Amino acid sequence: MSNEPNPTNPLREGLQARPMPQPCNVVIFGASGDLTFRKLIPALYNLAADGDLPAATNIVGFARREKTDESWRAELRDSTEKCSRSGLNEDVWGGFSKRIHYQCSDFTNSEGYRALREKLDAIDAAGGAAGNRLFYLSVSPTDYDLILRMLAESGLNKPRLGAWTRVIVEKPFGTDFATAESLNESIARAFAERDTFRIDHYLGKETAQNIMVLRFANQIFENQWNNRYIDHVQITSAETLGVEARGPYYEKAGALRDMVQSHLLQLVCLTAMEPPTSLTADSIRDEKAKVVRSLRRLSPEDVATDIVRGQYAAGAINGKPVPAYRAEERVSPTSMTETYVALKLHIDNWRWHGVPFYMRVGKRLAKGGAEIAVQFKEAPRVLFNTDSDAPLGPNQLVIRIQPDEGISLRLQCKVPGSVLRIEPVKMDFHYGASFGKQSPEAYERLILDAMSGDATLFARRDEVQEAWKFVDAIEQAWHAADTKSALCEYASGTWGPKEADELLARDGHAWRRM
Ligand code: BG6
Repeated sequence: MSNEPNPTNPLREGLQARPMPQPCNVVIFGASGDLTFRKLIPALYNLAADGDLPAATNIVGFARREKTDESWRAELRDSTEKCSRSGLNEDVWGGFSKRIHYQCSDFTNSEGYRALREKLDAIDAAGGAAGNRLFYLSVSPTDYDLILRMLAESGLNKPRLGAWTRVIVEKPFGTDFATAESLNESIARAFAERDTFRIDHYLGKETAQNIMVLRFANQIFENQWNNRYIDHVQITSAETLGVEARGPYYEKAGALRDMVQSHLLQLVCLTAMEPPTSLTADSIRDEKAKVVRSLRRLSPEDVATDIVRGQYAAGAINGKPVPAYRAEERVSPTSMTETYVALKLHIDNWRWHGVPFYMRVGKRLAKGGAEIAVQFKEAPRVLFNTDSDAPLGPNQLVIRIQPDEGISLRLQCKVPGSVLRIEPVKMDFHYGASFGKQSPEAYERLILDAMSGDATLFARRDEVQEAWKFVDAIEQAWHAADTKSALCEYASGTWGPKEADELLARDGHAWRRM
């Protein structure tokens, strides 16, 4: 389908600087969508501002709404100013915006694809991207199959000699195993797997990328990283935001499909995987896929006891009253969709046998943030705290994914003084303090990687499909049971339903206070 990509993975090369990828034309399907305005164009702009975007790269938006190059540029200017992490520099924007173009067309209209081809050829002829094309599907998943078929029918998926064509697909990758498989088949008919980049933006977060470095570039952790020393792991992704304007999508998805199937399971994989044999995309993804395959499938009984499903009721966030999920725009007043999930899972392999992984994810919680907390087993109580009921307290390694990115380690320490008193203290690393510069946004890194042909931080077909098998078993059990009684309510602005606390309390644990 294309030339063998020439991945330039800076991790693999151990370099700070990475070679500039070849220029390409980035074609965004869904050019008038929210993601384009909030994330994609600001990410491309920031790459340009940092000098990381090849000068001859052009962007072509493809969408149904009537717009001209100029009107689209004006809209993008406003949203980029609001959403770009570095604000907007008029000089940079001036040069960058000249490379933005718009193609108005219905996705079904072959004339639109013909016009797109002409536009891309004209850009190339004017000294552009030498025929390299990156198609970004930022549309409703119901349009994926159609666009992929139209790209194949119009021949736009086929690269010119010496050039490449690639596709980036936004999540959700299907809504269950069967639809994910069918989507993957549609993709495979138009693009080779090595030219397919399934975005999971959590993988592009600096802190998620650092998990592998923390584990495999430091000798002190890896030999403790197993069921002999680790008691359990807690993974949290909490948002204070509600469903916002995404009611129709979220009503069908719910927190399990929206967050657990993708982002949270990716974090489980990075935490639990074996060291890969090398840093190539496939070596890493092979190890992640093994973790997903080792997830213990939950029986309906396990689902009833080990998973808590919740939905937010009215409450207050930062002192401001907020409505219940059922009162949100375009949400059914009798909705049974979950906005919160807490669950316990097991990884049935040698390293992790007997170590529970607890996960919780929810909207409208007390505080926003994502983290992985690894709780070690307590030291033997033979020297300290021997005759007291007070436990010594376990060491805890916390990887803060966001905000205030960093890592902390809780240690036991002697309180200065003439009596022996032990208290926990925290060693804390903050990215901001140590590196003194802002981390790039996940989308910046991921778009650049796709341009470079490096799929390391993208989900592979088998990972995605295996994750769906795990999630499908839960969905089936939920819908077979009396789901009404299984949906626990929680007030907005709290840490979720009390049943989630009970889930951990049954095992003698408690959720970490974030
Ligand atoms: C998206 C989900 O994938 O991730 C959203 O669809 C969620 O529902 C978002 O809000 C969370 O991403 P982040 O980067 O803000 O944690």
